[in-house]
Amino acid sequence: MNRLAILGASGHGKVLADTAECCGWQAIEFFDDAWPQIESVSEWQVIGDTALLKGKLQSYDGVLVAIGNNQVRYHKLLELVEAGAMIPTMVHPTAIVSRYATLEIGSVVFAGAVVNADARIGMGAILNTGCSVDHDCVLGAGVHVSPGARLAGGVRVGDLSWIGIGASVRELVRIGSQVTVGAGAAVVSDILDLMTVAGVPARILPTKGKK
Ligand SMILES: CC(C)(COP(=O)(O)OP(=O)(O)OC[C@H]1O[C@@H](n2cnc3c(N)ncnc32)[C@H](O)[C@@H]1OP(=O)(O)O)[C@@H](O)C(=O)NCCC(=O)NCCS
Repeated sequence: MNRLAILGASGHGKVLADTAECCGWQAIEFFDDAWPQIESVSEWQVIGDTALLKGKLQSYDGVLVAIGNNQVRYHKLLELVEAGAMIPTMVHPTAIVSRYATLEIGSVVFAGAVVNADARIGMGAILNTGCSVDHDCVLGAGVHVSPGARLAGGVRVGDLSWIGIGASVRELVRIGSQVTVGAGAAVVSDILDLMTVAGVPARILPTKGKK
């Protein structure tokens, strides 16, 4: 039996578990640091926290992290890699990922997303429902491209950045690390590290958003 452990009993975790079932994973169990307060997510059981998961990694054929916060997700993934976990990628059967694109471990591609030729997707990235990442894009570790967001060809996105729902990014634009791009933004010029931008065209917001 194909056994998958998911760390993070979140809404995102629920979508990830559903995606995993569509990919043929047969037994899925959740872990969350809020356990035992959280006992289940949808119909899946939450059976422990990070420490318990690290103690039984050999029981799982794959381990993924489903935490929306990019930094926390990425650091939990590194912790599990160091502990010897098998970290797969997960691509929903209705997503289209070019055979010329590369996905690093721990990255997930949800229903209807498209990743075109020569795109490179970093470790632990989330390519959420119906987003598109076009040819030659390079996404760093722990990036999240939210549902319906569009990255044109050759866009670069630094580590841990978050592209909001429905945002569009013009071709060849460079987005720094730990950037937040607001929902519905149109990014037409480069964005420095740590900025939060929003609007059409995207402008810097005075305060950094949280997720
Ligand atoms: C950009 C964002 C991070 C800012 O969050 P925040 O720091 O909490 O900012 P606030 O909600 O306090 O808004 C601050 C100001 O920016 C404006 N603003 C916020 N988000 C905006 C957006 N996406 N586009 C345009 N303006 C926006 C607000 O109207 C407000 O303006 P005001 O000061 O004139 O009233 C957030 O609004 C956002 O868009 N997040 C993305 C959500 C998303 O994609 N979710 C998908 C999850 S899978």
